[in-house]
Amino acid sequence: MARNKIALIGGGQIGGTLAHLAALKEMGDVVIFDIVEGLPQGKALDLAQSGPVEGYNSRLKGANDYADIEGADVVIVTAGVPRKPGMSRDDLLGINLKVMKSVGEGIKKYAPNAFVICITNPLDAMVWALQQFSGLPANMVCGMAGVLDSSRFSTFLAEEFNVSVEDVTTFVLGGHGDTMVPLVRYSTVAGIPVPDLIKMGWSTEEKIAEIVQRTRDGGAEIVGLLKTGSAFYAPATSAIEMAESYLKDKKRLLPCAAYLNGEYGLDNMYVGVPTIIGAGGIEKIVEIDLQGEEKSGFDHSVDAVKGLMDACKNIDGSLA
Ligand code: APR
Repeated sequence: MARNKIALIGGGQIGGTLAHLAALKEMGDVVIFDIVEGLPQGKALDLAQSGPVEGYNSRLKGANDYADIEGADVVIVTAGVPRKPGMSRDDLLGINLKVMKSVGEGIKKYAPNAFVICITNPLDAMVWALQQFSGLPANMVCGMAGVLDSSRFSTFLAEEFNVSVEDVTTFVLGGHGDTMVPLVRYSTVAGIPVPDLIKMGWSTEEKIAEIVQRTRDGGAEIVGLLKTGSAFYAPATSAIEMAESYLKDKKRLLPCAAYLNGEYGLDNMYVGVPTIIGAGGIEKIVEIDLQGEEKSGFDHSVDAVKGLMDACKNIDGSLA
């Protein structure tokens, strides 16, 4: 049986971490593509040289030519620019939208059968544009956000409850930004919902509200600490979890930015919702019942994503 091929578009902080994780897990052979000459080749060589120590058999290659991603089974996209001080969201959107166009064309030509996971920000608008530029079926193109946001929420809850992170399950839906919606009611410790834990005196509503806000600001907290870049370990791990569910047909139920075609009353847009990821890509959108503030928070988040999509349409008239 042929080995899987994992193509990573963007060989920066997240791209390098993705390559390391994919090799350590022997998910397949890895191609790192970047526009900067030498960068992906250097990272691939460095990672290949850790193979004999770790004992992994993945072959790693760096590339500046899209032809090298030919036949990839999974493509993970981190190409683009992270936000820097003084840049507006629109500045970032305009630059990364152009990047998505060239990436989409490369995928269309060389990896039209791949499962594509986008990480580039602003996530929901970029994955929506990438799907159109690539022309791939919408169920084969998704965005990584909910797994990361949920993982941040779980980390903080495990700390608050003083329990193992293994027993915490959380859900964060909506757009990947300030308006994301951490769902307290659907978050549990070994099946016990967080509202019940509050009643049991394990925490207070105020403390959980602070954790919800810290989750929303999770990316900014790390940017504030690092100063020169944004988070990369947890974003990479989260995308690898999604890729594994596809390659191994695990049918994990994972929140991710998925294309909506009537689900949640929305059409022709990407936003974070619970999905089933298996060999068919995004095999199912799970429609959970949102109530009260959950629903209004989700609607608010959807409006924010639509605003970014409109900004994209104003920049590139081919988007619809
Ligand atoms: N094609 C391919 N690669 C590109 C292109 C392009 N058109 N434009 C930029 N790149 C590459 C850069 O050369 C760089 O190596 O994308 C890489 C991005 O890496 P970093 O700057 O280290 O950014 P990273 O932290 O990996 O984040 C990437 O993910 O979380 C988001 O907001 C983040 O949009 C950003 C993306």
